[in-house]
Amino acid sequence: MKIIKAKDYVEMSRKAAYYIADQVLLKPNSVLGLATGSTPLGTYQELIQLYQNGEVSFNQVRSFNLDEYYSLGPDHPQSYRYFMDENFFNHVDVQPENTHVPDGLSPNPDAFSADYDRQITNAGGIDLQLLGIGSNGHIAFNEPGNVFIAQTRLVDLKEHTIEDNARFFDSKDEVPRQAITMGLKSILGAKRILILASGENKADAVKAMLEGPIDPNLPASILQLHPNVTLIADEAALSKAGNR
Ligand code: F6R
Repeated sequence: MKIIKAKDYVEMSRKAAYYIADQVLLKPNSVLGLATGSTPLGTYQELIQLYQNGEVSFNQVRSFNLDEYYSLGPDHPQSYRYFMDENFFNHVDVQPENTHVPDGLSPNPDAFSADYDRQITNAGGIDLQLLGIGSNGHIAFNEPGNVFIAQTRLVDLKEHTIEDNARFFDSKDEVPRQAITMGLKSILGAKRILILASGENKADAVKAMLEGPIDPNLPASILQLHPNVTLIADEAALSKAGNR
């Protein structure tokens, strides 16, 4: 895994935005795998800035988001579709019909998930997958102890993740208990992976991802098997990893 160090969140976001913009400049019709959460927010802001400066266009980009809370519709302010529209898609020239976020209201999540994977395959696979990392080592909503290699599917969220994400809701009780998530198989199928980490609360997970055994209890550790992964992390997130 290649590691790019950043001083802080702002520098991490800037470096990540350039990394993604480079991908799109080299291949304007790139298929991007996108993430939500606090970590990539600054990256999306930087990408919007690059777009507004005329340095990059998303006009031909197709995108597939990692996950969506099951039971939240696109109009719910905490749904990931809402997050992506508000924080990125509405501010750049991506064609709305080329953006895909799992349907949190799908009446048949199994069929929906199989179709989502088919759509990714039909688009030629993901060129660049953007990831964050949960403080328990999850990627997308592939939680510790889940089946290691799986396709897109409906999963139960761990208590730890519900507690982490409660900060976005009025109360913990409002956090959905399930999500549709891309599986590790779909994620590992990406040609390149960019994983971001910021803050001390990610330091244990980052250390285990980089140095620990490949272990379903730390889902991000499977990234050690992918030939083209870059981690951009700030000093706080790297503070527990050995010298590199
Ligand atoms: C988001 C996602 C999650 C987050 C992770 C970290 O689409 O799939 O795995 O990347 O929970 O979240 P933040 O960035 O909020 O710390």
